[in-house]
Amino acid sequence: MSKSNLFRKKTLEMVLSETEAAEYKLKKTLTAIDLIALGLGAIIGTGIFVITGVAAAEKAGPAIVLSFILAGLACAFAAISYAELASIFPIAGSTYNYTYIAMGEFIAWIIGWDLILEYVFALPAIALGWSGYFTNLLASVGINIPAWAANSAWQAPGGLINLPAIGILLVIAILNYIGVRETATVNNIGVAFKVFVILFFIFVAVWHVKPSNWQPFMPYGWQGIFHGAAIIFFAYIGFDAVSTAAEETKNPAKDMPIGILGSLGISTLLYIAVSAILTGVVSYTELNDPAPVAKALNLIGLNWARGLVSLGAITGITTVLLVMFYGSTRIIFAMSRDGLLPPAFSKVHPKFRTPTLAIYLITIATTLVAGFLPIGIIAELVNIGTMLAFILTSIGVIVLRYTQPDLPRKFRAPGVPWTPLLAILFVLSLMLSLP
Ligand code: ALA
Repeated sequence: MSKSNLFRKKTLEMVLSETEAAEYKLKKTLTAIDLIALGLGAIIGTGIFVITGVAAAEKAGPAIVLSFILAGLACAFAAISYAELASIFPIAGSTYNYTYIAMGEFIAWIIGWDLILEYVFALPAIALGWSGYFTNLLASVGINIPAWAANSAWQAPGGLINLPAIGILLVIAILNYIGVRETATVNNIGVAFKVFVILFFIFVAVWHVKPSNWQPFMPYGWQGIFHGAAIIFFAYIGFDAVSTAAEETKNPAKDMPIGILGSLGISTLLYIAVSAILTGVVSYTELNDPAPVAKALNLIGLNWARGLVSLGAITGITTVLLVMFYGSTRIIFAMSRDGLLPPAFSKVHPKFRTPTLAIYLITIATTLVAGFLPIGIIAELVNIGTMLAFILTSIGVIVLRYTQPDLPRKFRAPGVPWTPLLAILFVLSLMLSLP
């Protein structure tokens, strides 16, 4: 990045010619349904299956429902901005590229690295959640992984390396390597199953709701609701990964807004229903558990349903890994194509048309972190990185409306500048509420 170029910007024409160059050409195979599924794949996972319990027990109480609505609103305003930009620019790299176009290379470089680091720590943290559920499920059928192989040294006494976490990351890497179509197909199947499991939970548990469990509704007041929202913001992360797929979508101008807003809308409804039912069937004080959904079923005597829910959680977390892994490699690809990383990282495989070296890099970094390093659920850190991306994307919409009013906006965000300003306001208030 030379000094004279710090504030260099890209134009739509440059973006379009970049994506047409033969050596960088990705495959355009994704449809609107694939995009909604990619969004659901990345969104629904650790947030609802793991973090909701602690957030309800310690932060918001039954008013966790309001936390979900608050975080959902912040994301909805941001998603409208994503939808507008993704409908204009059919390019991989998402916020990194939007920032490059609206604000120039320097800020793009910062947000590009912010996103890469966020993914490199989020993926191992999510893989550890996966490993916990997986080890438990195996133990429940009598297969015990020895402690040295199921935990890294910092995780548990006698631990050496977390093999399940490394194993799932390698499987995810292989799928990403062999193609975006294959990745999307596996994701579609996983999403269908996890949505089924969530609907199943809603259906079997709703009959056990006792409204008295919702009293007191706001044991920690409004402050608790904001703290809860800042934490379960993590549950919504992922719709932004849909926008990194614009370059591999058949008709991005039309399908991107459907994928982004559709997946966010569906998951918001599911989250509100699940959190209301969870806090309605048992007292919020009981939910402080790494597997709160399974625990609630156990407490209301539906033990037979636990296995299915655990399998749903494992599948759910797998697709989160799949799509987040995908998103991270496309950001590296996009930055390398612009010369902000060595050019080898944007070479695509001659047959699979996937960015091979970018995939190797993410695989090595994430397996090393997951296998050995001391990281817990670092949701707060990941949340801040994503919140910054949401703010920059919202600013990008406003800037481009003034600097380039004639861009072909197939989807025009309603109420600009107010909608992106609301996104910034909501996201900032959540940022400040992070513990
Ligand atoms: N939204 C994703 C999850 O909850 C990151 O796991």
